[in-house]
Amino acid sequence: MHSTGTTIERRVALARRAGGPEVIEVAVETLPEPGPGEALVRVAAAGLNHADSLIRSGGYVVTMPFPLAVGVEAAGTVVAAGDGAAIAPGTRVCGTGWLGSCADHVVVPVERIVPIPDDLGFAEAASIAHAGAAAGALSRVWPLEGRRAAVWGAAGAVGRLLVTRLSGNGTEVIGIAGGERVAVPARLGAAHVVDRTAGDVAEHVREATGGRGVDAVFDPVAAATFHTSLAMLAPRGCLINYGQLGGGVTNAALGDLFTSGGTFVTKFNAGAYVDGFADVAGLIREALELAVRRPEVVTPVAARFPLSEAAAAYRALESGAAGKVLVVVEDG
Ligand SMILES: NC(=O)c1ccc[n+]([C@@H]2O[C@H](COP(=O)([O-])OP(=O)(O)OC[C@H]3O[C@@H](n4cnc5c(N)ncnc54)[C@H](OP(=O)(O)O)[C@@H]3O)[C@@H](O)[C@H]2O)c1
Repeated sequence: MHSTGTTIERRVALARRAGGPEVIEVAVETLPEPGPGEALVRVAAAGLNHADSLIRSGGYVVTMPFPLAVGVEAAGTVVAAGDGAAIAPGTRVCGTGWLGSCADHVVVPVERIVPIPDDLGFAEAASIAHAGAAAGALSRVWPLEGRRAAVWGAAGAVGRLLVTRLSGNGTEVIGIAGGERVAVPARLGAAHVVDRTAGDVAEHVREATGGRGVDAVFDPVAAATFHTSLAMLAPRGCLINYGQLGGGVTNAALGDLFTSGGTFVTKFNAGAYVDGFADVAGLIREALELAVRRPEVVTPVAARFPLSEAAAAYRALESGAAGKVLVVVEDG
């Protein structure tokens, strides 16, 4: 970063146009100094998320103008605070909704900033902020206390926190994971675990529930799992779709909800379940506190890339890295 006194120059990963990781390049850009209620944060680690890729593709339900400064999640240190921003320089912080977080510096509204507990590092904080907000909001979607829920991707970043939250709130959780990750959901409180690579997943979930099925299924995969998810629901259960790791659903009909038992389907919109950024910050704080007590809720880091290799970092994310992909800022 170079400061002229009124403006700041930063290095940032920019997508010049819609497309794959190849459209990302690292550019030097002028940042305004933090305005009222904002803080300037020196980024130590930016967490990459699947939503970044969907938005950059240009074909997602959320659209943003190009050139697009990529990334929404990071952890770092406050360098300066604007008027009225109650955060001290030197504070270690993290958050999501930090647009253009894949950079060496970012200016963020202070209500989107959450201090990092002393016991956590930047990598953990940049791995849990976005997932913590998502899992907290997801746990509000359907009444599940004393009921049963299945969670796909139960060993992923969001899945770990969701399994922990739901089981801690009295939900009987069936965690679905693949390969070596099947060991994870039981450690987080899942009552049953289903290996998605071994046999009929819906059948296994039904077996685990005495044949009744689950009251809700949390599905971040979409097209590849949609009908399997419907098939594991109890009558009047709800499929909560919150991602499209397996492509957008194009092969469904309203009649599918009849044949699956008068079921419900929702496309999760986090904004509909949170009351502004103070609420989001509260959910992140809860996830950070949980991570201090139970480190296994934090997804392991799969790969670290320097900012100069941001495009390669997104390639790793999009080729199915098992764990969090971080861009670690060299001078951060
Ligand atoms: N606000 C929001 O709406 C919001 C916020 C955050 C994340 N999300 C979405 O949540 C999803 C998960 O994000 P994350 O950060 O937790 O990702 P992640 O850490 O990469 O975990 C995703 C997990 O999904 C499983 N998976 C991947 N492809 C699959 C497939 N074809 N069929 C079944 N399971 C598959 C994998 O687990 P196994 O191989 O072990 O099964 C993987 O561990 C993404 O779709 C993301 O876009 C939404």
